Amino acid sequence: MATTSTHQVRTAVLPVAGFGTRFLPATKAMAKEMLTVVDKPLIQYAVEEALAAGIERFVLVTGRGKQAIEDHFDLAYELTATLKARGKDAAVAEITDFLPPPGAIHYVRQREALGLGHAVWCARELAGDGPFAVISPDDLVLAETPCLKQMVEAHAALGGNLVGVMDVPREQTDRYGILSTPNESDRTPTVEGLVEKPTPAEAPSTLSIIGRYILMPEVFEALGQHERGAGNEIQLTDAMAKLIGRQPFHGLRFEGERFDCGTKDGWLSANIAFSLADPDRRAATEATLRRFAANLD
Ligand code: G1P
Repeated sequence: MATTSTHQVRTAVLPVAGFGTRFLPATKAMAKEMLTVVDKPLIQYAVEEALAAGIERFVLVTGRGKQAIEDHFDLAYELTATLKARGKDAAVAEITDFLPPPGAIHYVRQREALGLGHAVWCARELAGDGPFAVISPDDLVLAETPCLKQMVEAHAALGGNLVGVMDVPREQTDRYGILSTPNESDRTPTVEGLVEKPTPAEAPSTLSIIGRYILMPEVFEALGQHERGAGNEIQLTDAMAKLIGRQPFHGLRFEGERFDCGTKDGWLSANIAFSLADPDRRAATEATLRRFAANLD
């Protein structure tokens, strides 16, 4: 195994235990992370983004009814054999090329839906003793350089804790973790405070956290206190706030566009944006959009 410095980000934790209630009935019997944007499930985008950032170990925090995720990262033996027999090599590549090496994906279960902080805490024994990434598959980022790669590069210079951030309209601050920072417009603003889902009136800024984090393992100490926060859930934001002042803590205004695929509008926008970004699909997608636009009032 390659030797790695203690500062290298080798592990990614991917919380995938959520119910996906905003996507019912689609998510009644199917993991919401298996919803597709164009032709790939959300979880595959997340794993590919992590691989592109140099991640070697994946910890998926799952729950009941998420079997399809494990199957997606396994060999589909019959399908592969059938495609091979028919000479469909491109299709074989489509279903195997994205697989991390055998043994690189670990699964732990979050038994109860107690919040994002609790989901991350469930990965504590597998997250290693160096900085680790957290990726929420719902948050899909279209970018020239994959978002987590941008973060790993910034982290190599800054160390400590780093969260992906973007500006949101003030009326939406109650959907996000929000930064308090003295240098809000910098590319890597210093984090002086964090508050989970503040009302627009109470929000210290409009700089919000998206589902990309690089965290120091000390966050598990804070998560282990199981304190409840906003929505009576164990919040990752509250545990991170306890690290401020003890360790470097920055935001990264990443380059690219983020889509909240946990909502129908975000998911639909992601489908359009990713389809337009695919050279093989762009012309057909433009034609479809023009056809619909022509019928708008
Ligand atoms: C979670 C975090 C929040 C963050 C958001 C990004 O909230 O708790 O701090 O801003 O993800 O998507 P959730 O969307 O799970 O309510």
